[in-house]
Amino acid sequence: MKILGISASLRNARRGLGNVSLIEEINSIKSEEALNEFLTQEAETHLQNFKDAGRKELVPFDKMYANLKKLKGNKGLSNSEVCLTAALWSAKELGAEIDRVSLSEYFTESKKKLDIETLKQKLIEADGLLISTPVYFGDRSSLAQSLVNLIRNDDDLKAKLENKIYAGLSVGAKRNGGQETTLIYQLMDMANCKLLGVGNDSDTTSQYGGTGLAGDVGTMQKDEYGLKTAMGTGRRIARVANLMEVAKKKELQGNHKVTFWLLQDQNDVAKNYIKQLILDSEIENLDATIIEISDKNIFRCIACDICPTNVDLDEVYRCIIKSKTDELELMHKALINTDAVIPVAYSPLDRTGIQSSYQRFMERTRYLRRGDYILSDIMTAPLIVEDLGSDENLNIRMVTSMIRHHTIISQPMVAYKNGNDILNSEEVVSRFKRFNGLVRTAISGKLQVYSEGINHLKYNPVGYVLSTVKDAEDEKLNKRQAMVEDRIEQTKAVAKERLI
Ligand SMILES: Cc1cc2nc3c(=O)[nH]c(=O)nc-3n(C[C@H](O)[C@H](O)[C@H](O)COP(=O)(O)O)c2cc1C
Repeated sequence: MKILGISASLRNARRGLGNVSLIEEINSIKSEEALNEFLTQEAETHLQNFKDAGRKELVPFDKMYANLKKLKGNKGLSNSEVCLTAALWSAKELGAEIDRVSLSEYFTESKKKLDIETLKQKLIEADGLLISTPVYFGDRSSLAQSLVNLIRNDDDLKAKLENKIYAGLSVGAKRNGGQETTLIYQLMDMANCKLLGVGNDSDTTSQYGGTGLAGDVGTMQKDEYGLKTAMGTGRRIARVANLMEVAKKKELQGNHKVTFWLLQDQNDVAKNYIKQLILDSEIENLDATIIEISDKNIFRCIACDICPTNVDLDEVYRCIIKSKTDELELMHKALINTDAVIPVAYSPLDRTGIQSSYQRFMERTRYLRRGDYILSDIMTAPLIVEDLGSDENLNIRMVTSMIRHHTIISQPMVAYKNGNDILNSEEVVSRFKRFNGLVRTAISGKLQVYSEGINHLKYNPVGYVLSTVKDAEDEKLNKRQAMVEDRIEQTKAVAKERLI
């Protein structure tokens, strides 16, 4: 399994052989402590390079920039390169082969540039692409944009990158400088280029990837939590790349189960569309279930200090809301008993009579997420039937929420509706077909990998002291251990039955 780290920094310190030596250096680091020392030293070197290039003498920045370009590129790390290094180290620790490229060497106006074919080859040879970018104006750098353009504009390359795993890291100078927006936009782009998107792992509560806080040159290594998110991203991409690799060893027999969460509708437009989509795509072995949620009475989450209420087996509904008029509990088993989830909404222009439980339902899924990611590693992609001009951005919002369940994000399916016509039916059918193939692969990988253990799924209540205390109590009572063992045993039994 090969993970390619891609630096999109415009202040990139490592170039040419400096990329090769960095990989050797990362490979020789044996502990997290040694990694931190290395990152500190490299960040300081980067700062020193700036000083030597003229900062001390206060020479104009363009002159400093020209001086920096004269360096060999074998020392130092810019802020987003620090994050990338941390993530690559973590991926390596899980057995990944790692490599690295600097986009500044390919997308440059200067005559001294590397052949773009070399970059393409590196992308094609990798199983996972890990892109690290500084935040510029709440979004990625122009170098990262050039990479997205390269993929988007080249059908052959795009086809060869299909189903590779993508994860992102971003570093900004401000606390809320756009690290997350950057990651979400890029995740959408990569999913739309048919890569499979993942975020950071459970250690930092499964968000959108690595988010670093650093402005001045040579400061990223001080952001301890940001580095943790980067490391979690390295682990996550390595694990999912491994899961998809392991999947090849055994094939799923019989049906696979896709569950549609119908969350918003009007006059059954979305419901009928799902039925038509299933018919039109003629998928063998598909066991499809539509859970009609849009018209159900779903109470708002009451934001418990401790969620779920207690540690127990997955099949036990553990949200504190137990009112008979709340209809979530009735759905619990159907929600978790699936190989894949497609959240669905109809987004109409005329909103008369619209039925939507979308936001209430999403917030209520908190107990599933905090119950050690019950939906972990299942394939997911939104399906939106969208009137032209309804402008609800539901596909982006669904991806934003679903990735936090530690899922794997596949290309969104948006059916554009104009009057009674769906304008892109064939495209949606083709995306749905692809999705089903991916579900079969991912579930085979998941069953095999989870039979070996699921310790990496433990929900870590970052930011919640009360939950941490409760966690420790549950731990003492061995309840969590029983839950973990039950999940592994069930996985083993299901794997035996469903895989050949
Ligand atoms: C043109 C420009 C735009 C920037 N926009 C943002 C921004 O929107 N939000 C933010 O937090 N930081 C912003 N920054 C700061 C950089 O993201 C930050 O310095 C980062 O650490 C640079 O990473 P690097 O050292 O790897 O290049 C911007 C910097 C530049 C030069």
